[in-house]
Amino acid sequence: MVIRRSSLAAALAVVVAVASVASAEVFFEERFSDGWENRWVKSDWKKEDNMAGEWNYTSGKWTADAEDKGIQTSEDYRFYAISAEFPEFSNKEKTLVLQFSVKHEQKLDCGGGYIKLLSGDIDQKKFGGDTPYSIMFGPDICGYTTKKVHAIFTRDGKNHLIKKEVPCETDQLTHVYTFVVRPDDTYSILIDNNEKQTGSLYSDWDILPPKQIKDPDAKKPEDWDDNEYIPDPEDKKPEGYDDIPKEIPDTDAKKYILSRRWNLTSIPFADFKDDPYIYVYPNLRYVGIELWQVKSGTLFDNILVCNDPEYAKKFAEETWGKNKDAEKAAFDEAEKKKDVEEANDDDEDLDDEDEDSDAKVDSDAEEEQESASHDEL
Ligand SMILES: *[C@@H]1O[C@H](CO)[C@@H](O)[C@H](O)[C@H]1NC(C)=O
Ligand SMILES: *[C@@H]1O[C@H](CO)[C@@H](O)[C@H](O)[C@H]1NC(C)=O
Repeated sequence: MVIRRSSLAAALAVVVAVASVASAEVFFEERFSDGWENRWVKSDWKKEDNMAGEWNYTSGKWTADAEDKGIQTSEDYRFYAISAEFPEFSNKEKTLVLQFSVKHEQKLDCGGGYIKLLSGDIDQKKFGGDTPYSIMFGPDICGYTTKKVHAIFTRDGKNHLIKKEVPCETDQLTHVYTFVVRPDDTYSILIDNNEKQTGSLYSDWDILPPKQIKDPDAKKPEDWDDNEYIPDPEDKKPEGYDDIPKEIPDTDAKKYILSRRWNLTSIPFADFKDDPYIYVYPNLRYVGIELWQVKSGTLFDNILVCNDPEYAKKFAEETWGKNKDAEKAAFDEAEKKKDVEEANDDDEDLDDEDEDSDAKVDSDAEEEQESASHDEL
């Protein structure tokens, strides 16, 4: 009885899984298996200036599966631009999911790790930083201040950045970034299948002009108190307050409350036009990667454009999810090896007396100079 029940449940689970996968519309899926070079066009952008970087087709230095390759930036101080075409589609009345994985093996200190969706007709051989795009999404790191996920919509030639902060991952392992844009003008941003941000396209971007503006004719009443905080009239002195020595900071002694703040009256903005279709791009047709990298080593893989967040979730589990533990183990192993090598290098520096290299001679000369200048002191 029990057995029959669980096998029925299993059978049902299979039906549900197949049904949900069958409903997914996949516009583009790239695992970078054999033949990927026929699907992607490397741009000539920056080639003339010798500033176009080469992509390395590899699984990287630490990986769960050496045969599971992606494309990695391989030269420092270079621009990168590559794109792939898919059958044109509109996301009107459809959920749009853009997902990919990225691994910054170089310990990225300044560079992008984002991808773009482009519309209409594009000369892929000329794809570059100035090529208009529809959506840009993914991590961007520069120094200590920029460590965020970009989510940009382009409308009428203007780029609209998300107004909320979405921190990105900063380690040297693979992470999956997912952007979901729904026909009810809501969105979600996920990292490794966990939702990091969600909300409305209306409030989290300034795509449309504001609905309300401050009334330019509104006047502040003359007797208005401009202090933002006033003493709380309900507040009572704590018992024994007068016995407390004055030197002790009396943080709790008096509570303040937020006063009414003068807000200029809002009025409807005449130029505001509501648009329930701000999420729509009627002719999406390319996915592109366009980056500047100071230090190379960023590896892209498993790019997906579809209409089904559940399908995307499974795709991420089957790729990144399946491999992440083994990749972490390989990374830890590589770090251990590096530590040992560094320790060995230090040892060699100490006791390579009989080595007769030019470098050794140079460093001896330097040492002599240094000690000579010390002697003078
Ligand atoms: C490509 O990546 C592999 C693995 O990290 C590395 O051994 C190789 O040197 C790289 N090739 C180039 C041209 O950067
Ligand atoms: C005035 O505006 C501020 C911020 O814009 C808001 O927090 C506050 O609640 C408003 N005050 C009133 C009385 O509407």
